Amino acid sequence: MALSENLLHGGDLISASARYNIPVESWLDLSTGLNPVSYPVEGVDPLAFQRLPYIQPEFLAAAARYYSSDQLLPVNGSQPVIQVLPKCVEKLPVLLPAVGYDEHRHSWQKNGNPLVFYPAFDAEAARVMIETALLEGEAFHLLVINPNNPSGLRFSPHTLAEWSRQMAPGSYLIVDEAFIDTDPEASVLAGYHVANMVVLRSFGKFFGLAGLRLGFVFAEATLREALQQRLGLWQVNGVAQSLATKALSDDGWQMRARQDIHLNAEASQRLLAPLMSMFKPLREIRSALFSSWLLSRSEATGLQRYLATHGILVRVIVVDKHHSLLRIGILDRNDLNAMERLEQIVLNYAQHLTVQWEDSTEREVADVCE
Ligand SMILES: Cc1ncc(COP(=O)(O)O)c(C=O)c1O
Repeated sequence: MALSENLLHGGDLISASARYNIPVESWLDLSTGLNPVSYPVEGVDPLAFQRLPYIQPEFLAAAARYYSSDQLLPVNGSQPVIQVLPKCVEKLPVLLPAVGYDEHRHSWQKNGNPLVFYPAFDAEAARVMIETALLEGEAFHLLVINPNNPSGLRFSPHTLAEWSRQMAPGSYLIVDEAFIDTDPEASVLAGYHVANMVVLRSFGKFFGLAGLRLGFVFAEATLREALQQRLGLWQVNGVAQSLATKALSDDGWQMRARQDIHLNAEASQRLLAPLMSMFKPLREIRSALFSSWLLSRSEATGLQRYLATHGILVRVIVVDKHHSLLRIGILDRNDLNAMERLEQIVLNYAQHLTVQWEDSTEREVADVCE
């Protein structure tokens, strides 16, 4: 059976395994935007498992230092905040990107907020629409995923701060910075945090520990309190606190990880280059932890299916009636088995297309001759 075009989330190897009859451990997972080289999981104090996870002061201090702000609430990933935020702020229309991490749209829609979409690929068109809405002076919430997953759209922290200041009372600018850690100077937390901003940070992507479930929300105290009330007690388990205290303080690992991610992205893109020249995507978006290709819907699903039948999982995100994005994560260039496997499957694909093309040409010739 084919994978449904629009798998809700990346990394769902259990569904992929059931659909393609390939064991979970045999997949090469390129369907997420996670760092393939995780922060080492070692040296966790057994007490972290035994005690109830009250927030440890050293964990809070490490987070405040890493994110350059102490106006934070640690959470079980940014996802739960996305789910409860609409209930914690005034019920206003929301301006959000036409393509982006879809859980935002789901949550606001479920809450009944009117939704208006701005273009997700063209930064100038998006800017014009957002600034026109700001000039009209009505209250609305604005969501910016910076950089946008999967469209790559991004704005400077200076621009975001300007927009925030222009918003009518009661309005929030929500900045989802799940993928900003590779470029920390681009974060609004680095000197551009305005009171009516809500900033979401995801720990799992840059540190490669999505299963730990850890994130942070930065907002004014009353909103943090409202979020805390909705989310309830013991959001962040003791193991997550213990590992994150080390990871967030480990400047050396973070510096090496930024360089490594860059080199791993380059190496992964080199392997994918033959596919790129075959498909000639309408747009190619490169973000540090993933790349996205804008293709026709049939090209995107065809390629996804071919890769999946060979045990490589990528994501397809439907953009409109005719187009989808194929989003591809990065490999660790030092994982030679994985690198060779991807290289071979990409090269085989070229042959597979040639055979298909020869078959169809032969059929056409036969049709003409009959
Ligand atoms: C843009 C964006 N925001 C938020 C999330 C939620 O991530 P988490 O709950 O792990 O922080 C994701 C997950 O993929 C994402 O892509």
